[in-house]
Amino acid sequence: MKVLIATDKPFAAEAVNGIRDVIEKAGFELVLLEKYTEKKQLLDAVANVDAAIIRSDIFDKEVLDAAKDLKIVVRAGAGFDNIELDAATANDICVMNTPGQNANAVAELALGLAVYAVRNFYNGTSGTELMGKKLGIHAYGNVGRNVARVAKGFGMEVYAYDPFLTAEAIEKEGVKAVASAEDLYTTCQFVSLHIPATAETKNSINYALLSKMPKNALLINTARKEVINEAEIVKLMEDRKDFKYVTDIMPGNHAEMAEKFAGRYFSTPKKMGAQTAEANTNAGIAAASQIVDFIKNGNERFRVNKK
Ligand code: 3PG
Repeated sequence: MKVLIATDKPFAAEAVNGIRDVIEKAGFELVLLEKYTEKKQLLDAVANVDAAIIRSDIFDKEVLDAAKDLKIVVRAGAGFDNIELDAATANDICVMNTPGQNANAVAELALGLAVYAVRNFYNGTSGTELMGKKLGIHAYGNVGRNVARVAKGFGMEVYAYDPFLTAEAIEKEGVKAVASAEDLYTTCQFVSLHIPATAETKNSINYALLSKMPKNALLINTARKEVINEAEIVKLMEDRKDFKYVTDIMPGNHAEMAEKFAGRYFSTPKKMGAQTAEANTNAGIAAASQIVDFIKNGNERFRVNKK
């Protein structure tokens, strides 16, 4: 059994070693494709492997069709919008993710970006603090929960909105639940996004919603760039000189944002929320263990596509 790690953005070395251990102890062989620059390399690499561990690497129909022996692909991470689920199902390939395994890393970065923004991007001028401010968490999943925990440590007042959870489920964790996204944005000076990119959420963070935020608003996006309506956030930031936007997912209109909103906008050059040795190790080893358990025992826990 051949297990491919295909990571355009490589895991930390210790994570790869940990994955290798799990794979080889199971009697399987590990194949490594890192920092590939062309899709052809990926198409060649998937051609004769039984399983794959990926990150944000694109597994579209072309890749899934080229993977003739592939039985399972595990996205070492949370969001699986990079995988064509229907094509995987059609080819009888099981798709899984590793929910929660990189959540703390993303949460720490979200709050780190918040500190960076309120301290004026460390330019030496007087900033503000997080303590006592209202933070709205948009989607209260694994990352959202970790953001709440870290934000409470800063002394923030934490609110959350999640259409898939009851108010009771959110409030039992000491977080205030609000009834709608509109309520969250109206209430909170700070909003941290943790929604997946789906047909419903794409472009949903728009002018109408963001304009509800109180004075000196800060939007933190460590989720997906696709959820932002890029044209409308430009308009909003032109109209609201008090509005800041920080993200680790470079928007499509990054050059325009950087030029127009210097001092109020920041993006890391690469998505780096989950880019820690700990997150790589947790998610990578979980992925490897899920593959072994699937191939040896048929365990489909964490499957995200239809059969
Ligand atoms: C995720 O969905 O788990 C995060 O966005 C991390 O993605 P990455 O592994 O590509 O950094």
